[in-house]
This record gives sequence, C-alpha cells and structure tokens, in this order.
Amino acid sequence: MITRTGDMFGRRAGNVLLLCILFTIVFLLSLPLPLSAKVTGICSNCHTMHNSQDGGSIDNTPSNNLLVDNCVGCHSSNTANTKITKGSTIVPIVYNTVPPTTPLAGGNFYWVASDDTKGHNVYGIAGADANLSTAPGRNPAGCDNSCHDTLAAPPSANNYYRGGCQGCHVFTYHHEDNGVYRFLKGHGYPQPWPEQIENSKDITAYTDYVVGVEDNDWEYTTDNAGDHNYYKGTSDNYTSGGDSLTTKQTITAFCSGCHQRFHGVQPDIGNGMGSGSPWIRHPTDILLPDTGEYGKYDPDVNANYSVEAPVAWINPETPVRGEAVVMCLSCHRPHGSDQPDMLRWDYRNMVTGATGSSADTGCFTCHRDKDGT
Ligand code: HEC
Ligand code: HEC
Ligand code: HEC
Ligand code: HEC
Ligand code: HEC
Ligand code: HEC
Repeated sequence: MITRTGDMFGRRAGNVLLLCILFTIVFLLSLPLPLSAKVTGICSNCHTMHNSQDGGSIDNTPSNNLLVDNCVGCHSSNTANTKITKGSTIVPIVYNTVPPTTPLAGGNFYWVASDDTKGHNVYGIAGADANLSTAPGRNPAGCDNSCHDTLAAPPSANNYYRGGCQGCHVFTYHHEDNGVYRFLKGHGYPQPWPEQIENSKDITAYTDYVVGVEDNDWEYTTDNAGDHNYYKGTSDNYTSGGDSLTTKQTITAFCSGCHQRFHGVQPDIGNGMGSGSPWIRHPTDILLPDTGEYGKYDPDVNANYSVEAPVAWINPETPVRGEAVVMCLSCHRPHGSDQPDMLRWDYRNMVTGATGSSADTGCFTCHRDKDGT
C-alpha cells in the first residue's frame, strides 16, 4: 500500500514536474535570451606559453597575452567555412580567402580584399581605400590620421596602437560575459588621454558600448522568427557624437562615432538627417511606423522579421512591434558584403514597379508599396 501510494504520489509529482519543465522550456524558447560570449576549450587552442614548441624557432614575434595568433589570424580561414571548430573551441570566421558559403551577421572581409568599395579596409586584409581618404560623414571631433580617417593603417600612436579590427572592437573581452555587444565599445567618453585608454576598458566607469542580445552562432543559422541578433535602438531625438554612445548604447550611435553627420540633427554644422519628412538623409534611430506601407512589415518575434533588412528595438530583450527601430545595419553589413557600400542586398535590383523576385525584399521590406505589388 505504502509503496503503491508512494508510487502514485511519485508518478503524479513526476507529471507535475514534467509539465513545469515543459512550460519553462516553452517560456524560455519564447524569449531572446542573452547567450554566453565567453570562449571555451583548452588553453593551448589559443595560448602559447613560450612561443616555442619541440625546440622550434623563437624568432617569430609572439602576440600579446601569449596568444598563438592575432585578430585577423584567428578569425580567418582559407576554406569557405565561417564557423571553424578546433577541439571544443568554435571560432567565428570574418575573413575567408575564398568566397564564404555562409557569411556571419557582420558580413565578411573576403570582398574588400580585392575591391575597396565592398567593405571597411582594415589593416592586415586590405590597404587604404583608394576612393575614401576619411570616413564619409566624418565625426569632426575625431583626431586626424586616426581610425576616423582609415582603419588600414598599421598600429601607431595615432590609433592608440590598435586600429584595424580594434578601430571598432577597441577592447576585447574573450574571457568575460560583461554585456558589451560583440566587443563594440568606444575609447571612453569624455575621451581619455592616450595613456588612460586602457582604463576606459572598464565598462562600469565608461558606458560607451553597444548592448543587444547576441545570437549564439553569430547568425550562421537563422530563421525569421527568433533565431537572430537583437540590436539596441532608440526613438530619442539626439545629436550623434559626444556622449551619444554613452547614453544611448545603440548600434547607430556606435557607427556615428566615425560617421557622425549621417545621423541626428546637427544645427551647428548644418548637417545630419533632419527631424522628419522630408528627410535629408535616410533616417536611423527612429521608430518604424506601424501604419501605411511600413505597417505591412511586422518584424515582431515569431512573425516575419527579415534577417536581410533587420530592425533594432528599444528593448532588445523584450521586442515588441511598436518599438521597432530603423538602424545603420538595416541596410549595411559592418565588415563587408558582395555589394558596393557593403549593402545587404543588390540595391540596383530595387526597381519600382518590378514584380517577381525582388518584391517585399531589400528596401521593399519596409517600403512595401514601392515595389508595385
Ligand atoms: C578560444 C581562444 C582562447 C582559449 C581557449 C583561452 N583563451 Fe585566454 N585569451 C584569449 C584571448 C583572445 C585573449 C586576449 C584578451 C581578451 O580578449 O580578453 C586571452 C587572454 C587571456 C589572459 C589575459 C587577460 C585576462 O582576461 O586575464 C589570460 C590570463 C588567459 N587568457 C588565460 C587563459 C587560460 C588559463 C585558458 C585555459 C583555461 C585560456 N586563457 C583559454 C583566448 C583564449
Ligand atoms: C587565439 C584566437 C583568437 C584571437 C587572437 C582573437 N580571437 Fe576573437 N574570438 C576567438 C574565438 C574562439 C571566439 C568565439 C568565442 C565564443 O565562443 O563566443 C572569438 C570571438 C570574438 C568576437 C565575437 C564576440 C561575441 O560576442 O560573440 C569578436 C568581436 C572578436 N572575437 C574579435 C576579436 C578581435 C578584435 C581580436 C584581436 C584583438 C580577436 N578577436 C582575437 C578567438 C580569437
Ligand atoms: C567598422 C567597424 C568594425 C570593424 C573594423 C571590425 N568589426 Fe567586427 N563587428 C562589427 C560589428 C558592428 C559587429 C556586429 C555585427 C552584427 O551583429 O550584425 C561585428 C561582429 C564581429 C564578430 C562576430 C561575428 C559576426 O559577424 O557577427 C567577430 C568575430 C568580429 N566582428 C571580428 C572582427 C575582426 C577579426 C575584425 C578585423 C579583421 C573586425 N571584426 C573588424 C564591427 C566591426
Ligand atoms: C572607427 C571608425 C569607424 C566606425 C566605428 C565605422 N566606420 Fe564606416 N568607415 C570608416 C572609414 C575610415 C571609412 C572609409 C575607408 C574605408 O572604406 O575603409 C568607412 C567607410 C564606410 C562605408 C563605405 C565603404 C566603402 O568602401 O565604400 C560604409 C558603408 C560604412 N563605413 C558604414 C559603417 C557602418 C554601418 C558602421 C557601423 C557598424 C561603421 N561604418 C562604423 C570608419 C568607421
Ligand atoms: C528597416 C526599414 C527600412 C528600410 C530597409 C528602408 N527604409 Fe527607407 N524609410 C524607412 C522609414 C521608417 C522612413 C521614414 C518614414 C517617416 O518619415 O515616418 C524611411 C524614409 C525613406 C525615404 C524618405 C522619405 C521622406 O518622407 O523623406 C526614402 C527616399 C527612403 N526611405 C528610401 C529607401 C531606400 C531606397 C531604401 C533601400 C536602400 C530604404 N529606404 C530602406 C524605413 C526603411
Ligand atoms: C535605408 C538604408 C540605409 C540606411 C539605414 C543607412 N544607409 Fe548608408 N548607404 C545606403 C546606400 C543605399 C548607400 C549608397 C549610396 C547612396 O545611395 O547614397 C549608402 C552609403 C553609405 C556610406 C558611403 C558614403 C560615401 O560617400 O561613399 C556610408 C559611410 C554609410 N552609408 C554609412 C551609414 C551609416 C553610418 C548609417 C547609420 C547612421 C547608414 N549608412 C544607414 C543605405 C543606407
């Protein structure tokens, strides 16, 4: 009897427990959860203690932090694969020397290696851009001959001995989960003196970094429902530059750190995007209206979010339709793409009145009524 009652109780409790677990799983799956950005795997996948093995030559210069390679070295591949597994370490590849099969969210540096118009020219991959001697829409406060002019220069005092990849990923946090979206942080604001730069790595003292919810495989696999990055945006009307990244923490404010004049209202320099229709530059960090043609794009979770023309959110952890925001990455890939101006799609194919394959894609993702369908 006792055993039997116990059994019954056990089975019922088991069922309740099972239901609870099921509900929890369903609940968790419905939320875009921040996933760990920390590296995994054995130390020697990435570190070398003496930079010498089996009596090998020690003439070659080791990298900082006793690493086996530098940024470009670790994050590149001679294969078409963009997710490489070394033991239990998974390395996201951003530069393939052959056309990548599945470029990650940031795009890929493959194209800019041979065509200046198709990406940011970064040190170690491409020489200085032949067409652009500075960042278009340059932040007028940026130092001369710094990352505000080129990301292709070798490390020097002008780029705080960073530059290249670290013009954008100024600090890296491979062993931490600190909430800095993809290691995208400025060099501290108010701008510290060069000798204080390392202090501004402290994110509690300097909040000039991007926040968001990171997809766990960098969008190697995606679906338009929930399997993608969630970017931070804002609907606040702000002038970019100064403390805008510190206070807004959006991806648009980050890009504007170098391309300041493309966003916001800037009465002092008579530039920016304007503050309403008619716009003088394509607006960013504004709400995607839920009326008119824009109302036909509902990027809310589990609906028809487009990884081709994505949006940001006022609250990336609790995205709702009324808080969807247009951002720089709605149209651009930050590393590079197979299109000029590192656009996310073939802009030349956006022909108004066209039907067929380009309907509701690219620009038409938001401008639904301009495709003539
Ligand atoms: C997947 C590559 C990878 C693996 C595996 C790895 N590291 Fe690192 N480690 C890095 C990188 C990259 C840095 C550079 C600094 C940064 O980005 O934080 C670093 C920096 C460090 C630093 C100096 C900065 C700090 O955070 O204290 C130490 C110490 C360190 N690693 C120890 C280890 C040890 C011990 C292991 C094994 C348990 C290990 N690492 C495994 C990539 C790796
Ligand atoms: C020793 C190899 C190694 C080196 C050197 C290295 N990385 Fe990484 N990096 C990795 C690995 C592995 C990951 C994936 C970590 C994970 O699983 O999330 C990674 C992740 C990243 C990410 C994505 C972080 C995220 O949130 O998912 C960025 C950005 C990045 N690295 C930039 C850099 C930059 C910039 C440098 C040079 C300063 C650099 N890495 C140097 C191995 C390396
Ligand atoms: C112009 C700024 C910029 C430069 C320069 C840059 N990155 Fe990035 N990187 C970004 C942004 C923005 C993202 C986030 C993309 C997203 O989530 O859509 C990113 C994402 C990444 C990721 C995660 C994978 C992905 O595609 O999302 C890695 C790894 C990375 N960068 C490494 C590098 C390395 C290595 C270099 C130098 C070869 C580099 N980055 C140069 C802006 C930059
Ligand atoms: C650290 C400074 C810096 C940041 C941050 C930065 N850029 Fe740039 N960008 C540049 C420079 C310098 C150039 C001109 C040289 C080149 O193309 O590499 C440039 C060029 C461009 C171009 C034209 C590319 C071409 O070759 O025609 C686009 C588009 C662009 N950036 C978009 C972005 C976007 C989107 C972001 C945010 C993810 C961003 N940039 C962040 C410095 C920056
Ligand atoms: C992520 C959504 C989105 C994408 C993608 C997008 N737009 Fe827009 N666009 C908007 C929004 C929102 C506005 C401002 C609407 C308003 O004034 O309320 C706008 C405004 C404009 C305007 C100015 C209209 C005016 O009233 O001044 C033009 C022109 C335009 N877009 C063209 C384009 C083109 C061309 C593309 C493709 C390269 C594109 N857009 C891609 C959302 C988008
Ligand atoms: C609606 C789509 C869209 C959005 C949003 C957008 N861009 Fe662009 N961007 C374009 C297109 C298309 C071009 C190609 C040139 C043109 O049509 O004006 C371009 C060109 C550029 C260039 C090259 C300009 C030159 O002189 O060569 C830079 C730099 C740039 N964008 C940066 C940004 C930044 C930074 C943001 C966010 C503040 C942003 N873009 C937002 C579509 C967009």
